[in-house]
Amino acid sequence: MKKTRILAIESSCDETAVAIVEDGKELLSNIVSSQINVHSKFGGVIPEVASRIHVENITVVLDEALRKAGLTMEEIDAIAVTHGPGLVGSLHIGIQAAKALAWYYGKPLVPVHHIAGHIYANRFADDLKYPLLALVVSGGHTELVYLKSEYSFEILGTTQDDAIGEAYDKVARVLGLPYPGGPAIDQLAKNGVKHYRLPKVKTENDLDFSFSGLKSAVLQLVSKQTKIKEDIIPEDLAYAFQEAALGELIQKAKAALTRFDVKHFVLAGGVAANSRLREKVNLLKDDFPGLTVTIPPMWCCTDNAAMIAMAGTLAYRAGLHADLSLSADPGLELA
Ligand code: KG4
Ligand code: ZN
Repeated sequence: MKKTRILAIESSCDETAVAIVEDGKELLSNIVSSQINVHSKFGGVIPEVASRIHVENITVVLDEALRKAGLTMEEIDAIAVTHGPGLVGSLHIGIQAAKALAWYYGKPLVPVHHIAGHIYANRFADDLKYPLLALVVSGGHTELVYLKSEYSFEILGTTQDDAIGEAYDKVARVLGLPYPGGPAIDQLAKNGVKHYRLPKVKTENDLDFSFSGLKSAVLQLVSKQTKIKEDIIPEDLAYAFQEAALGELIQKAKAALTRFDVKHFVLAGGVAANSRLREKVNLLKDDFPGLTVTIPPMWCCTDNAAMIAMAGTLAYRAGLHADLSLSADPGLELA
């Protein structure tokens, strides 16, 4: 049988990425060019700088992905691309590249929502069963997404203010840690103990999230300690913040699992790389016997194009194609 090969482009934030996936299984190549070194000098992503670097990198990353896979464009069946959400200038570069390839080589163009990509990253670890519940935790999103069947998305709850990754990055900045702060807090917290008390988060809808109160509480604590000239113990503060933030995620996930018919629970997004969250999510199996729990492989947690190629394969098979009028949608909704 003829193989289906999807080439995907992801450029929604500060990673220029191209990957090729065969038959929704085999990862033939996965190239990610990160701009972290540039943006960390500024303590966060500078959108204008990000788009310029995407322009410089995209053809190099594309050539490398084809070379690693040992394929030519003629052997690719369709071009998948992230068309939102994300930084408009960054998305635009990936979409222009995808459209140029689709037009020149006469291939179908398949638009993919960035979060659909994060969710389907789990397909590199496991076959997925439905109904499925995804806990999406990234720099821009914190959501509980329900999939009654393949590629159908319903948002059960979302953050009312900051995304969890954003909260990690802001707390890290207060502690003088480099951007992105998530991995640094993850490491620090391993050596922390229960010491600081942070307030419990309150949300109106019990499946929604809120992290700005927690973030402000950390800022207040640090400024209070500075005023009385007492040193903060960074490990203990990282520990307190992380336990509070992750506790909120797990509590809401459990509430949704209790209320909805779910066969498979998956974690998704950059914060899925967090070691403590991975531990906590694995424990859900004990509370919900019969539930299949999957966490994405470490290499597929933060932004990459392999996940877009995986979701793109399903979208391609479902006939979800776009024409060449496709444009970037920075606020694109999943459902
Ligand atoms: O999914 P992603 O790569 O980009 C977005 O779609 O936003 O997620 C990036 C976020 C950043 O906020 C980063 O600090 C966080 O994921 N992150 C982590 C860890 N690794 C990355 N947060 C906590 N612990 C980690 N180990
Ligand atoms: Zn992402």
